[in-house]
Amino acid sequence: MNVVDYLRISLIDRCNFRCQYCMPADTPLDYVPSATVLTNAEILTLLQEVFIPLGFRKFRLTGGEPLLRPDVVELVGAIAALPQTQDLALTTNAFLLAPLAADLYAAGLRRINISLDSLEPEIFHQIIGHRGRDRWQQVWDGILAAHRVGFDPLKLNVVVIPGVNDHEIEDLAALTLDRGWHVRFIEFMPIGNAELFGERAWIASAELRQRIRDRWGLVESTVRGNGPADVFQIPGARGTLGFISQMSECFCDRCNRVRLSADGWLRPCLLNETEQLDLRTPLRSGESIGVLREQVRSLLLRKPEINFKARESGTNDGVYARTMSQIGG
Ligand code: 5AD
Ligand code: SF4
Repeated sequence: MNVVDYLRISLIDRCNFRCQYCMPADTPLDYVPSATVLTNAEILTLLQEVFIPLGFRKFRLTGGEPLLRPDVVELVGAIAALPQTQDLALTTNAFLLAPLAADLYAAGLRRINISLDSLEPEIFHQIIGHRGRDRWQQVWDGILAAHRVGFDPLKLNVVVIPGVNDHEIEDLAALTLDRGWHVRFIEFMPIGNAELFGERAWIASAELRQRIRDRWGLVESTVRGNGPADVFQIPGARGTLGFISQMSECFCDRCNRVRLSADGWLRPCLLNETEQLDLRTPLRSGESIGVLREQVRSLLLRKPEINFKARESGTNDGVYARTMSQIGG
C-alpha cells in the first residue's frame, strides 16, 4: 500500500485573486468565520501530536492565498524547525511574494510553487478576474524575487484552459530553456467552476507533450518528484516540464497525500468529499489528542477505498461543496 506521508495545509480560504477556474468573481463564496481558522499553535499541535507520529514528513502550505496570512513566516519557521520535517513547500499566486521572499527563505522554506497561467498580461488578468493592469507584473516581480533569493526548485503551475491560454504552451515551456525553473501543466479539472469546464473542457497532457516535442523534442527526465507529475525535459534545457494528468490518467493508487482545510477538516481525497474528519472541534474541546490520532489513523487505513478513481466510476460531475481555494489545491 502506498505510504501517505504528505499533508497539504490550507492556511486561509481567502484569496486576492478570483481565478476563473477556481473562485470565479460572480460566485458568492462563504468564507469560513475567522474564529474557526486554525491558529499556528493549533496547526503545530496537530503536526506534532497527530500527523508526525503517524509518519507524515512532507508538508505544503496552501490557501486560498497563504501569503495573506499575517503569521505565515512564523509558521514556516516553526515547521521547518521540526526535526521530522523532510520537505516543506508553499503554493502561492506570488502577488505578495516579492517583499516576503527573503523572509520565507530565511525561515527555512526552500520550495515554492507559483501559479502562472499566462505570460500575456491581458490574458492573465482575464484569468485571475482582475482588471488592474499591474497584477501580472507584480506576480512576475514576485517570481524574480524568489529566484534571486535562491528558491530551488522554483515551480510554475499552469492550468491549461482550452481557448484561453493553450496557445501559450510553447512560450511557457520555453521558460525552462535557460532557467532552472520547472513548469508544470495541469489538466483543467471540473472543480471550482463547473460551468467554465462544461464550456471549455480540458486538453490531455499527451497532446501538449506532442506540441512541445514537435517544436524542440522532448525526453523523459531522470528527475522524479514525489508528486503525480510525469516529468520531461526539452533536450538541453535547464529546467523540466511536468504534466499533471488527473483527467486523462488515474493516479489515485499512488496518492500519497491528505489535505487539512483552514478550518481544520481533514480531507482524505481531493475529488471525493465523503469521510472528511473535523479535527478542530475535538482539538478545541480538549478531546484527548490520542483519540484524535487514532481517528486519523483509521481514516488513513480507509483512504484507498475513499480515493476517487474517476475513470472507474465516471461520477465526476464537477459539483463540489468546496472550491480549490477552500481545499488548498
Ligand atoms: N483545475 C486544475 N487545477 C486547479 N487549481 C485550482 N483550480 C483548479 C482546477 N479547476 C490549481 C491551480 C493553482 C492551485 C492552487 O490549484 O493550479 O495553482
Ligand atoms: Fe487563483 Fe489560487 Fe487564488 Fe484559486 S487560490 S483564485 S487558483 S490564485
